[in-house]
Amino acid sequence: MICWLWKASDMTEPLKVALLGCGVVGSAVARRLHDDARDLAARVGAPLQITGVAVRDITRPRPESGVDASLFTTDAESLVERADLVVELMGGIEPARSLLLRAIEHGASVVTANKALLGEDGPQLFEAADARGVDLSYEAAVAGAIPLLRPLRESLAGDSVRRVMGIVNGTTNFILDKMDRTGAALDDVLAEAQQLGYAEADPTADVEGYDARAKAAILASLAFHTRVATPDVYCEGIMGVTAEDIRAARKIGLVVKLLAICERTDEGVSARVHPTLVPRSHPLGSVREAFNAVFVETELAGQLMFYGKGAGAEPTASAVLGDLVQAARHRLDGGHGPGESAYADLPLLPIAQSQTSYFVRLDVLDRPGVLAQVANVLGEQGVSIESMRQGVRRSGDGLAMLEIVTHRASDAALARTVDQLRMLDDVHAVTSVLRVEGM
Ligand code: NDP
Ligand code: HSE
Repeated sequence: MICWLWKASDMTEPLKVALLGCGVVGSAVARRLHDDARDLAARVGAPLQITGVAVRDITRPRPESGVDASLFTTDAESLVERADLVVELMGGIEPARSLLLRAIEHGASVVTANKALLGEDGPQLFEAADARGVDLSYEAAVAGAIPLLRPLRESLAGDSVRRVMGIVNGTTNFILDKMDRTGAALDDVLAEAQQLGYAEADPTADVEGYDARAKAAILASLAFHTRVATPDVYCEGIMGVTAEDIRAARKIGLVVKLLAICERTDEGVSARVHPTLVPRSHPLGSVREAFNAVFVETELAGQLMFYGKGAGAEPTASAVLGDLVQAARHRLDGGHGPGESAYADLPLLPIAQSQTSYFVRLDVLDRPGVLAQVANVLGEQGVSIESMRQGVRRSGDGLAMLEIVTHRASDAALARTVDQLRMLDDVHAVTSVLRVEGM
């Protein structure tokens, strides 16, 4: 028999929850608020009562959400004015931003999974929440179900983070993993990721790296106590990754992943998102499907790894509900959690100063002296070669494929090297340049 540790008489009045959005994530959150109402009330100390759900189309039946049809509305503005807690799961910049600001202005604590909005306008929202003394929580905005932001903000508050590196976009990991394992084309796998509810409403945000870039901005801001906005993050998506890149990487024990890398050096902080080759034996190399994994390196704790489901309805709902329970508890206690910390205000470094290893693939004329010319260019630019391999000669075209892995070099030095290589008569084409991490 279950013995409940609370009684109805212990309860205070219900806390009024407004839900903005009832799509993939919103409907999973609503369903749990309905099905687990008793447990959630016991954990909070008061029932959480959905007072309305804002959607675009109120005529669409949404039985999966468990929400009474009478609660759906298109009048999100008045909904947020009547709530104690507002959960924003609409996505996009507007009207999400105005609604969150309005909710905060009316004294509601807010929970959002909207990394696009936070990466663009986080400071305005943080300042508004701080001024009003309410919570603004967004654990689900980065790495779905994985508790990552709270550890960065709270558990590591006494340590110094040096580096955050990981897979923070489930859709692109799903795509790259499928391409790697089955040789499928990017477009076919993207459709599957969309069906599974991993992709953004506009999947360009996933494949062009914009979603990971917004997440990198959030991670770097938290990790380094410095405001890093989405445009500050260097970004390359996966559209340029070819089946040939994946095959070539496989041959040398590497796998392509879209990584977000945030670093703090003596000069400042940098954040970048790009397709990256990692060894298959590296923990990031074995992250499958829509899973996310993030390494955090700190001065005192050393290396920490966070791993779990980075997208999808229920995993994301887990993080949203965790924030909601915490905000509700604060509400009852009369307090609020820590706000934004940007006191360090470190300089933001350009991509040209980033240091990493590179994989460069070239089509060269298959004749004596070519290797020496290529090696000479790298040497002149101070880029040291870790390995150089000549691939199978293509029948009949007089070309050979050359694959080079470099030691760590600056992005600027590598860019100059590639320019110089392109100018060599014996270099037919530079067919691929990918960064390498974790060697
Ligand atoms: P969906 O597109 O599935 O759902 C969006 C919901 O918001 C829909 O119910 C839609 O209404 C409603 N909506 C959109 N615009 C408006 C508007 N102008 N007025 C009223 N309602 C509106 O998105 P997801 O659930 O996938 O994502 C929601 C948020 O969570 C996004 O910020 C996303 O980045 C984030 N997120 C998503 C994850 C995932 O795995 N899907 C993981 C982590 C974060 P209607 O149904 O009528 O169209
Ligand atoms: N589209 C996002 C992803 C959802 O694929 O990771 C989770 O933030």
